[in-house]
Amino acid sequence: MNILLTGGAGYIGSHTALVLAQAGHNVVLFDNLSNSDAAVPEKISSMAGKKLPFVQADVRATDLVEKALREHRIDAVVHFAGFKAVGESVAVPIEYYANNIHGTVSLLQAMQRVSVKTLLFSSSATVYGLPQYLPIDEAHPTHAINPYGRTKLHVEEMLGDVARSDAAWRIMCLRYFNPVGAHESGMIGERPNGIPNNLMPFIAQVASGERERLQVFGNDYPTADGTGIRDYIHVMDLAEGHAAAVHYLQSHQGWDVINLGTGQGYSVLDMVRAFEKASGRGIPYVIAARRPGDVPACYANPAKAKRLLGWQATRSLDDMCASTWQFQRNRV
Ligand code: NAD
Ligand code: UFG
Repeated sequence: MNILLTGGAGYIGSHTALVLAQAGHNVVLFDNLSNSDAAVPEKISSMAGKKLPFVQADVRATDLVEKALREHRIDAVVHFAGFKAVGESVAVPIEYYANNIHGTVSLLQAMQRVSVKTLLFSSSATVYGLPQYLPIDEAHPTHAINPYGRTKLHVEEMLGDVARSDAAWRIMCLRYFNPVGAHESGMIGERPNGIPNNLMPFIAQVASGERERLQVFGNDYPTADGTGIRDYIHVMDLAEGHAAAVHYLQSHQGWDVINLGTGQGYSVLDMVRAFEKASGRGIPYVIAARRPGDVPACYANPAKAKRLLGWQATRSLDDMCASTWQFQRNRV
């Protein structure tokens, strides 16, 4: 298939591009590089062993999206492009609504014009809000608790309306849990700007000596060791989940949501120990106050993905840490 990846030069997009290209698809990257490196499209091409066309443009430029869809005779779109930092979304919500909501409307308009009606959307476990039960399945009520989460929920609902308006649409919202890790080569990975908000990139920078110590946000949660529990999923497993979903949509119309997680929760201290093992470095840490908005534990019930897509995560926590460390060593 000919597949356009908006945000294809980003963290999850770049790994998915590689997996799709290696599965024989013709992949086109569409990215404005607002949060990615201009070298990434070349790197993916060299890893895939074939040149992936790259369109540097903003998804809100509807005419440019339309042009790319026509020129590359696109059959399906994976929509990664957007902003993703929870704290930043509280500070600059208009930017988040403009990019995440308007960006998706623009994409849908372009797709409508050229009658491309197959779409995968990057959603997030954040749409579940405070877990009411664990593990979280797709029937769990949704309740976004910050502007970022609200943009994801609004887009999911908008996509449901679109699918109901015309039976030709095939739309899948993939709710990612906590993507971590990198391609095993360490050539592509997550490249946070400034001080990382997320645990794994922060730990990697402590291991490499870029940062002095990790702050563990709370050790008084009702969990075995008192620290927060999350469902960390290897980005290559996540990428393969997209390939399975693209395949699924070829024979399924309508709208659906699927969790992409492992079903296994690890605590902050589990992550510290696993990274120490993978890197052979000590990770100094201090216990700090709880971070506002954090939940004690969040992990997926991934049964629907297995049932519908025939996909499940296979890589271990050690794989996640080893590949993160490989990427970290390549970049410093
Ligand atoms: P990322 O920032 O690495 O990738 C997003 C890419 O989109 C970047 O390359 C950026 O330059 C591009 N982009 C942003 N706005 C654009 C626009 N208007 N036009 C064109 N390109 C644009 O982020 P990521 O971690 O790869 O996340 C990809 C998607 O997955 C996002 O929608 C994010 O909300 C979602 N998601 C991420 C996580 C996570 O923890 N990484 C978790 C759940 C969901
Ligand atoms: N943590 C620390 N110290 C840090 C960073 C994080 O102790 O420096 C802890 C957090 O308190 C939490 C765990 O590590 O218990 C994971 O935190 P992350 O920031 O890595 O991930 P979150 O689960 O908070 O959020 C991530 C994304 C969201 C997304 C959510 C669910 O950042 O955008 O996963 O998919 F919505």
